Amino acid sequence: MTTIDLPLLPLGKGRDLDSERGVECPGDLPAASDPDLVARALAAKEALGERLFVLGHHYQRDEVIQFADVTGDSFKLAREAAARPAAEFIVFCGVHFMAESADILTADTQKVVLPDLAAGCSMADMARLGQVEDAWDALAEAGIQDAVVPITYMNSSADIKAFCGRNGGAVCTSSNAEVALEWAFAQKPEVEGGAKVFFFPDQHLGRNTAVLQMGYSLEDCVVWNPHLPNGGLTVQQLRDAKMILWRGHCSVHGRFRPEVIDELRAAHPGLNVIVHPECTHEVVTKADLVGSTEFIIKTIEAAAPGTTWAIGTELNLVKRLADAHPDKNIVFLDRNVCYCSTMNRIDLPHLVWALENLVAGNVVNQISVDPATEEWAQVALQRMLDLPGRTAKD
Ligand code: 13P
Ligand code: SF4
Repeated sequence: MTTIDLPLLPLGKGRDLDSERGVECPGDLPAASDPDLVARALAAKEALGERLFVLGHHYQRDEVIQFADVTGDSFKLAREAAARPAAEFIVFCGVHFMAESADILTADTQKVVLPDLAAGCSMADMARLGQVEDAWDALAEAGIQDAVVPITYMNSSADIKAFCGRNGGAVCTSSNAEVALEWAFAQKPEVEGGAKVFFFPDQHLGRNTAVLQMGYSLEDCVVWNPHLPNGGLTVQQLRDAKMILWRGHCSVHGRFRPEVIDELRAAHPGLNVIVHPECTHEVVTKADLVGSTEFIIKTIEAAAPGTTWAIGTELNLVKRLADAHPDKNIVFLDRNVCYCSTMNRIDLPHLVWALENLVAGNVVNQISVDPATEEWAQVALQRMLDLPGRTAKD
């Protein structure tokens, strides 16, 4: 198979239906300066009543999150979507891969809406199905494919999830990666030396989980670069590896630097550092605590008044935590602004536009995964949902 390697266009220009990046929003959006936006959103929600359920990811803007019926990390939101069979419309305030997962986990009669189709995820764009299939073929040529279990992070397109479902693998999120890897490594008892895991698209979540939580060494991990022949690896490197990590990353969490942790610790004695596992290994190694967005929120809620925290995750969430906990000293781990540009694409004008269209009987920006992809993606998602609970941290 030939790999089509398209450049990333995270700001949503252009049109490629196979991409996570989405397209421009059609129709007339209310002006961002419209003073009635809040009242219009409330009125549309009231008009839709029980027919509507609004999900909001923790990285959403304040102006949007106030209208969410439930907020959560990507794992919680997937479960919440699956648990709402009565809602005719699920409006997903998050990014494209999350809305796709909600569509896969809900009934065909339910409609999932993403208020701005350009709300993609640049990390999810870093692993395209053609590239993953090329890599899978290379693992067969190296004679190890039968030993490999593919695990994809939730932050991936539905066709990648379907690839995992078809090939004996599963999905994981940042809150259950350890349990998912334990499951994967136990899948091939017949293989001498045990199973290997092919993990995509986030090399950092894969490495941090395998090394820091499960006791594997950095030498057990190799990085598959989809832009190089044979991933830039020798056959022997592939045979020796336990974790084959895709060369993908989050551009937001990749900004946090270990030296900033050192500077902050020097300036604030007693500082606690808590980060998301999408941060680099160097950052996670220097942090005190690591976990999903839900874990970060619960930790800050439970922290004693007067304690000082540096948080390494997206800025909307960190700012909201700082506002909600004035009795704790909360600082951001980056020197500069660090929003997720695609999460921020869901703003109040887009939400109002989507809701008012639903009231008028128009389903706009529906996310609909094709049935063939959905069948196998659901298998991979269900394997995740069947894992024995979240980690103790969640
Ligand atoms: P969570 O799984 O913690 O919600 O994270 C999703 C995400 O996109 C983080 O960048
Ligand atoms: Fe994707 Fe990173 Fe944004 Fe999360 S924060 S949605 S991984 S780009």
